[in-house]
Amino acid sequence: MRIAVAGSIATDHLFTFEGRFADSLLVAQLSNVSLSFLASDLQVRRGGTGANIAFGMGMLGARPLLVGAVGKDAADYLTWLQEHGVDTTHVHVSPDKASARFTCTTDQDHAQLATFYPGAMSEAAHIDIGSLGEIDLVVVAPDDPGAMLRHSASCRERGVAFAADPSQQLSFLAGDAIQALVEGATYLFSNAYESALIHDKTGWSVDDVLGLVGTRLTTHGPDGIVISRKGEDEIRVDVAPARRLTDPTGVGDAFRAGFLTATGWGLPLERAAQVGALVATHVVETVGPQDYTFTPAGFLDRFVEAYGGDAAAEVQPFLLT
Ligand SMILES: Nc1ncnc2c1ncn2[C@@H]1O[C@H](COP(=O)(O)OP(=O)(O)OP(=O)(O)O)[C@@H](O)[C@H]1O
Ligand SMILES: [Mg+2]
Repeated sequence: MRIAVAGSIATDHLFTFEGRFADSLLVAQLSNVSLSFLASDLQVRRGGTGANIAFGMGMLGARPLLVGAVGKDAADYLTWLQEHGVDTTHVHVSPDKASARFTCTTDQDHAQLATFYPGAMSEAAHIDIGSLGEIDLVVVAPDDPGAMLRHSASCRERGVAFAADPSQQLSFLAGDAIQALVEGATYLFSNAYESALIHDKTGWSVDDVLGLVGTRLTTHGPDGIVISRKGEDEIRVDVAPARRLTDPTGVGDAFRAGFLTATGWGLPLERAAQVGALVATHVVETVGPQDYTFTPAGFLDRFVEAYGGDAAAEVQPFLLT
């Protein structure tokens, strides 16, 4: 099964400031702000939803096609993704804009000053899904909103199955745009908060949503995953227990990566969600969305621990090939 993952490709630059921003802000001078903070630590993390999902799929041995836009500065990042099984042939490289970047400085009170620069990401809408060749499923993950709308429309026109994953972009999208992203999707992914946002902004009932998509997957953090389909009983899937809670950034993307890979293997929904949950657990245990590692045998051992030997026997042939 050939899966294309369309989404953002970005890096996070996370600074630590050991003082307090508030001590430097002069209320009388707010119209004249000029501040600089001396950072004591810098963490650079590879991220972006498209890259995170594709990375997780690559880790499981799938060969996802990443669809997104970067600047010329992303050569090392693309090499990293290729080394982890991601096909980056269709990543658009902007001639003049830098790659998307999130910069955030956190002070000792956990106050944050952040900037997101979309840069090259704004060119993702130039990519035509029709140019990718034969594709079985397109994941439309958070990206430039124009690109997300174009890819969803293009999938519907061509009769190509797609997964709607609007996630954090839901906060900025109006009801009609959400409808254009969701309608006709084979899978709809969201967390519990985003699920409520979908209903709030579109006015749809739960039944309305189930009438518009094939399968809805809602993640509830440590409380697991709920899978719903029209006219069928809900399936609830527990998380795979984490050995330590280090950093949740990217758990949602990791879940999608595991679920979609296992669905591509032909596994049923519950088993596929368990594969997704175990990839997400690896992310919870490490700092950063793409800084985890596992071997197929190690992954299988943890799958046995979390979900038992019978469930693991269904996953084994695809991991140990
Ligand atoms: N504490 C945890 N322990 C184990 N697994 C977890 C934990 N938190 C999250 N997960 C796994 O990650 C999945 C996605 O989590 P969550 O619902 O928090 O996604 P999210 O809010 O989209 O996250 P993000 O957008 O920050 O990546 C869950 O369904 C679960 O499998
Ligand atoms: Mg999320």
